Parts: sequence; structure tokens; C-alpha cells
Amino acid sequence: MMNKTKRWWQTAVFYQIYPRSFADGNGDGIGDFTGMIAKLDYLQSLGIGAVWLSPHYPSPNVDCGYDISDYTNVAPEYGTLEDFKRFLQEAHARGIRVLLDLVLNHTSDQHPWFVESRSSRDNPKRDWYIWHDPAPDGGPPNNWWSVFGGSAWEFDARTGQYYYHFFFKEQPDLNWRNPAVKQAMWDAVRFWLDMGVDGFRLDAIGTIYEDPTMPNHQGTLSQLEVLRAWRENLPAEQMQQLTNAMMETFRYQFGQPEVHDLMKELRALLDTYAGDRVLIGEDDDIAYYGNGDDELHLVFNFPLMRTNRITPAFVRANQAERLSKLPPGAWPCNTLNNHDVSRMRTAFGDGEHDLSIARVNAALVLTLKGTPVLYNGEEIGMTDLILSRLDQLRDNQAINAYHAAIADGATPEQALALAARISRDRCRTPMQWANAPNAGFSPAGVETWLPVNPNYAEGINVAEQEHDPDSMLNYYRRLIRVRQRTPALYQGEYAPVDEAEEYLAFTRRDEESGQTCLVVLNMSPEPVATSLPVADRARCIFSSHGREGRGIAPRHLHLAPFEVLIAELEG
Ligand code: GLC
Ligand code: CA
Repeated sequence: MMNKTKRWWQTAVFYQIYPRSFADGNGDGIGDFTGMIAKLDYLQSLGIGAVWLSPHYPSPNVDCGYDISDYTNVAPEYGTLEDFKRFLQEAHARGIRVLLDLVLNHTSDQHPWFVESRSSRDNPKRDWYIWHDPAPDGGPPNNWWSVFGGSAWEFDARTGQYYYHFFFKEQPDLNWRNPAVKQAMWDAVRFWLDMGVDGFRLDAIGTIYEDPTMPNHQGTLSQLEVLRAWRENLPAEQMQQLTNAMMETFRYQFGQPEVHDLMKELRALLDTYAGDRVLIGEDDDIAYYGNGDDELHLVFNFPLMRTNRITPAFVRANQAERLSKLPPGAWPCNTLNNHDVSRMRTAFGDGEHDLSIARVNAALVLTLKGTPVLYNGEEIGMTDLILSRLDQLRDNQAINAYHAAIADGATPEQALALAARISRDRCRTPMQWANAPNAGFSPAGVETWLPVNPNYAEGINVAEQEHDPDSMLNYYRRLIRVRQRTPALYQGEYAPVDEAEEYLAFTRRDEESGQTCLVVLNMSPEPVATSLPVADRARCIFSSHGREGRGIAPRHLHLAPFEVLIAELEG
């Protein structure tokens, strides 16, 4: 059902594609556009309305594509610009919009801009990056750190100055106070918008500006703690403490007020294009919504995934806080995993009921108020893969953590165990398409860029799940379908029903259609009997336990362990 008030990016289900691991079309062990094109029918059958591609640009891959050496091209291993255009066309032909990843904070050190910038102190591009003289003792200009380990300053012997990098030293930060940088980057943005892309996911916007007075930080986290922050599955309270400590350590290196003017400028640029192009921010700070209509359209609700157990109380607190703080007109955006964190089935599992818990959480992200963003593979219940050898790791952050752990006194075995556990590789393994060699991602015998998770043979693959009506894949399909035809679910207001410990019950009320839905998620492994103070009668429109189409009485409700129920209230 279409409606007048909501825009496409509010009602569509988004899906993140990690291009390197999605589908290998030419059989070289690396995903590519030919592969992605061949899977568009699959995405359409899932009900996906928009995809966000992690970086597809040429890159030396020190940070798996987030170190870009050419902003207006396609990495050769993924194909050509013509392949990209075909992908875009074929996606649009299926009603799927396409968002690209826009990395503004830094380029690769191999980008021609940086090659020029570092060539001499008087090169015209010198000031495109952040260069500083050494401290009087010859050391770095201050004590700022890179979030990926070590000093944020790298000495360049040829010109005798340090350059600044928030991430790897191969990712020098651009100097956004230089208007020429802005113009060059906006040209790249226009290049893709002119081609017809539907918007961007903005990478690391918080770190675009640094405090120009460059005070030393007073943070107390160790290097290893910095490297582990947000990478481990910890209880929400510990996650929050870590987040606070990270804020302290990096307080002068992110969140400078100017970034909001920059976002307004980018939004204004997008708004000159027809077609309702969209910006999604990788940052949990609600301030990036601006006044609700002048900065980013969507900002990820990351606090919702910063826990190791999604409980009813946790969700209610998250929603109460988040929704009350949104500026008028701003639209929420929920996600439970991405290419930087543990997969949702692994992250929130209890080790015993992981699949049931993942099903409940899938229903959560698809019924809360806001745009849901799925991460490729979650729809078939893919899990983390913990690598067992150092030479298998591709995530350089994890390799830095390995060395930091050794420096801290860990044995090589301990350091490897830690690095493998927090490595982002764990969630980036190839998509599992079939119960076939290489999970059907690449042909048999090909060495894939990251090992395939062997559990593709245990039913965690698309082909087998296609034919099983009770599979995770068909569960996601059913959920998305019911969401798409139910205005209360895609645009209604959220309200919690009670304060129960075991289950989460909330309503979604759509004024426009007058429809109200009740969502009940039993998050516990026990059956519960309850009485929900809503209407006397309701009709079940989605059930994990075969109640679809039946009437229910919310005031006398018995829920099976991990039961999911969505009902339309009557009267
Ligand atoms: C973002 C990306 C992450 C990358 C970093 C630096 O956090 O999600 O993968 O390493 O930015 O670009
Ligand atoms: Ca390939």
C-alpha cells in the first residue's frame, strides 16, 4: 500500500552488501558486480527496497576498501564502471535503490591527492591533508591516538613533518577546512548522483574535523582496550562504559561543531537532485539529524546493538531515550549488525538458543519504528567464523590487536585467540549460497579471499532454505512481506504496552489508516501467560507458531518460548 506522507527511505527495507563477500561472478574468489547482478532477483524476492554497498572503489585494501585511491571508479576486482552501471540499472528495474559508501574523513595514502601532498612542503595539495611540525623533542605533535592502534601521527622523513590519521597510517585524514578538498569531494558525489545512485551511507563523519588547538587528551584506556572497544560482545553496561571512555580518549578528535555545517552543505547538494536521494550516517549521535530535515535523513541507532543480550527492558529503554530525543520529523533507523561487528545471531545468542533468539531479534528490527537495515547473510542465520591462524586474518585492526596483546605480555596463542575473536573478518566471510563447495560463492577449488564458514553444510545456505517453508530465509521473507502491506508497521507510532521482564509488547499505531498493530516478542526460553491491556480482540497477521489468520485475545495470552506474534487490533 502506498501512502502520501512517508518517503521511500522511510518504508523500504535496506540491505547492506559487502561486495567482496557477496557473490563471485568470475570465479576468482572475490565478490564482484557480475555476481551481485545475478543475485538481484534474490534480493527482490526477499523484499529488499534499497541496498547499501560497502566501498566498491579502487583501493589498496589496507582497510578492506575503506582506504579509497579513486573516488570515481570501480575496483578492478569488482569489475568496471560499465558493470556498475548495469548493476544500477538492473537494481532500479527491480525497484531496488542503490546507496554507495562515502568515505569523507580520509583517503588511501595511494590516492594521487596524497601522493602529491606528501611530495613536498610547497606542493599545492600539501594543505589537502593535516601536516604538522614535530614536537620540540622531534616526537609527534601531541598524544592523540589512532583508533586502529598507535599514534595518530605518522612521520614523513622526506618533508620532515607528521601527518594525521584517525584510522590506519595508510588512511591520512583530509583537511576539510580547505575549501578545495570540499569541492573535489563534492565533484565525486555529483559524479555518482548524476549517474543515478540514490544516496550514500556516510562513513565515519564524526572524525572529519579535529580540535585545531590540539590539546592532549586525558584518556585512560590502553592501546589494547581501544582496539577491543565495540568489537567484543559485552553486556550493555560495559559497552556504555567503554563508549564513554572512548569519548574521553578521542574527545578532541571527533564531534567538532563544524561537521554539522558540512552535513548541511552535503544535504543541500543532494536536495538539488530529483528523486529523493538519501543520506545515512554511521554515527549514533542524534545531532546529525539537524533540525529533522536539514542534515542526514537517517542516523543508525547503534546503541540498540551495543549489548550481548537484547532484553525487553533494554529495548524499551533504548526506544524511550532515542525516540524522545529525535527532532520533529526525524525518522529512526535500526540495525543489529554490519561489517564491523559480530553477526547478530552470534552477538546476542546465549549459546543454547541462538537461532530462536535471532528469529525474535529479526522480528524486532523489522517491527520497531524506523527504517530497518539488514546485513547480508543475517537472513539465512549466518554466524561469526573465528579464524584459527594468524595468516588467515585480513582485518589489519585485528592484526594490530595481536601485536598489542603480545606487547602486553600475552602468549602468541592468547594473542591469536583474542585477535581472532575481535577480528572483523568473523562477520565478513563469503555469503553462503548453497550446500556446495565454497558454499556456492566461488567455484570448487578456488581459494576465496576469506575462508568460507563450514557451517554452510549444516543448512546455513540460501539454496536449501529456499525450499524449507520454516527456514530463517522464509521467515525473513514472511516478516518483510507482512511489514510491507501493513501501514501500522512501516509508518506507525511506537508505544510500549507494559514493563514485563520476559517479553516485549508494543503497539504501532498509524493515524492515517487508523490501523493499530500489537507486536509481542517472547524473549525468554520459557512459556509465559499474560494479560495485555489493549483491545479485547485482535487478528494475528504474523506468527512464529502457526496462529496467522486466527483471532487472539490480548487479555488472555499464552506465549510459547521465543514466540513472535503480530496482531491487528480490532475495535
Ligand atoms: C567505518 C567503517 C569501517 C572502517 C572505518 C574507516 O567505521 O565502517 O569498516 O574501517 O570507517 O574508514
Ligand atoms: Ca570475482
